[in-house]
Amino acid sequence: MTNTVVVCNGCCCGRVEKGHSEVPVDLLKDAWHKYGLEDDVKLTISDCLGPCSMHNVSLLKTSHGHTWLGKLSENEHFEALIEWALSASSDGDSAELPELLEVHRFVHDESNS
Ligand code: FES
Repeated sequence: MTNTVVVCNGCCCGRVEKGHSEVPVDLLKDAWHKYGLEDDVKLTISDCLGPCSMHNVSLLKTSHGHTWLGKLSENEHFEALIEWALSASSDGDSAELPELLEVHRFVHDESNS
C-alpha cells in the first residue's frame, strides 16, 4: 500500500471566510514536486473528511492504519506533514510522526463519516 497524506480543504477546513486558517495547498504541491515524493507518498487534497470541528484536518494512511491530525493552523504544521512524507518516502511505514504533530493526533470513529 502506498502511504498517503490526505489534506482536507473542504466546507470548513481552510475556509478563511469562516475564520479558519488557510490550507497552504501550493506549498504542499510544490514540496511534493520539489522532493519527487509522488512515487512513494500520495498527496490528496480532499473535500470534507467528516470531523469538521477539528479543522484543519489531515489524515495519514499507512499499512499500520490511519492517523488523524487536527487543529493544523500554522504553515509549520503543514511543513511537518512534508517532513513526515519525506521520512515515509525513505523509511516507508516506519516513518515517525514529527514531534510537532504528536499533540495534534485525535481519534475519529470512521464508521460515522
Ligand atoms: S471540512 Fe475538513 S473535516 Fe469537514
